[in-house]
Amino acid sequence: MRKKIVAGNWKMNNNINETKELIQGLKNEMEAVTLNNARVIIAPSFINLQQAVSETNDSVIEVSAQNLHQAKSGAYTGEVSADMLSSVGVKTVIIGHSERRAYFNETDDILSEKVNAAIENDFEIIFCFGEQLEDRETNNHFKVVESQLKNVLFSLPSSAFSKVVLAYEPVWAIGTGKTASADQAQEMHQFIRGLFVEAYSQELADSISILYGGSVKPGNAEEIFSKPDVDGGLIGGASLKAKDFSDIVKSI
Ligand code: 13P
Repeated sequence: MRKKIVAGNWKMNNNINETKELIQGLKNEMEAVTLNNARVIIAPSFINLQQAVSETNDSVIEVSAQNLHQAKSGAYTGEVSADMLSSVGVKTVIIGHSERRAYFNETDDILSEKVNAAIENDFEIIFCFGEQLEDRETNNHFKVVESQLKNVLFSLPSSAFSKVVLAYEPVWAIGTGKTASADQAQEMHQFIRGLFVEAYSQELADSISILYGGSVKPGNAEEIFSKPDVDGGLIGGASLKAKDFSDIVKSI
């Protein structure tokens, strides 16, 4: 059975003290939560990952990076490699977030290289994709999502997908307070699963977790998570408050 996942993408928020405080708050809140076949992941910024790993090692909370560089090492000023992440105990990485695509020019080709680097280093990947508002308004959202997936993931062997989690994040719903409706999320997730049936197999499609991201809050999480093809959420703003994030976790 595929896993349910609630992941918090902290983006460029929280210094070291705030990181410690938020993790402590989450651990306290999480004590009262029973996780049935569900995972909880947080993705702090690079500089706080080592601390986050050590603060969470006695808890159910897992730690992910928000990015990695595709090269093994070398003259890439300011970048962080898979090996550096592994060496501080991080083996999960978010790749393809719309903010990285938009502000850091990460194209499908670059994302393919990042995915390959992650796989070579035995990382789990949370792969993000999703259409812009204009794509949806012109009824191109299915086409856009299909090409984002095909261009980066569909050349991978089926064995790679045991370590891939998908995160459908419509760009127009990120940080805007405008969520996709639960029905819109379900419709897209079902479409995505169908693409995996065509490209690989029903078995693989059934085994892959597809998260929804975009203005998920305690008040709407339960309805979105109730849909059969929605296996959890990738949470931005609401992952920065221990109570909100754990309330979302409780909805899974
Ligand atoms: P918000 O939950 O703040 O809309 O962000 C979603 C997101 O981008 C998670 O990666």
